[in-house]
Amino acid sequence: MKGIILAGGTGSRLFPLTKVTNKHLLPVYNKPMIYYPLHTLINAGITEIMIISGRGHAGHFLELLGSGMEFGISLTYEIQETSGGIAQALGLAASWADEEDVAVILGDNIFQDNVKDDVASFEGGAKIFLKAVTDAHRFGVAELKKDQVISIEEKPPSPKSNYAVTGLYLYDYKVFSIIRTLKPSGRGELEITDVNNAYLQKEMMKYAILKGFWSDAGTFDSLLRASILVQQYSENKQSDS
Ligand code: G1P
Repeated sequence: MKGIILAGGTGSRLFPLTKVTNKHLLPVYNKPMIYYPLHTLINAGITEIMIISGRGHAGHFLELLGSGMEFGISLTYEIQETSGGIAQALGLAASWADEEDVAVILGDNIFQDNVKDDVASFEGGAKIFLKAVTDAHRFGVAELKKDQVISIEEKPPSPKSNYAVTGLYLYDYKVFSIIRTLKPSGRGELEITDVNNAYLQKEMMKYAILKGFWSDAGTFDSLLRASILVQQYSENKQSDS
């Protein structure tokens, strides 16, 4: 399986922090944000990873991460010229993915769980990772019935559950043909939630519920929260040893 980190977007919700740098290079506790999704993929055993970013500050990713040699992986970079949404950015990886399965992670999502087993046992279709939250209206929200996901709604004003769809997705290569059929949403973007609903309609969607902490880091509050969670976890690790 190949890995894809989606690190586009303007970071407008973090302005002025993102006025002269990219959101994914901002610090989360003691590392640049993008290190966390990168390590989630590396810890899952993935060694070929593409980073997709917008034009602004794209060279900084290259300076920071280079070829990936220091992490024992191979990195490839792609540019999203216009901000057409998460699914549009993912579509840019189609020929690089070369019909392999892909693990897709949003560059501002911080996960504690190791998904190595999910990656190793993936058998096609799609798999999403859910986390119970108190502010589900900020996310894609999954409605569950008898161990099945029955609907996913993007940022619903009245969420049908408290399960956020986190920014980590396993897809087979059919994801790229699904993306080609998508129409822009009300906000003019190709939505990852529409990709997931396409798999749901084909009954090709599985899910797991995360055990460890998870946070996005795209707003002032979630960025702070992510830093605090990472700090607490590193402190626990130190006192455990
Ligand atoms: C995106 C997705 C959303 C998902 C979230 C996770 O939202 O559209 O479904 O729950 O990431 O962080 P964004 O925060 O980019 O608006």
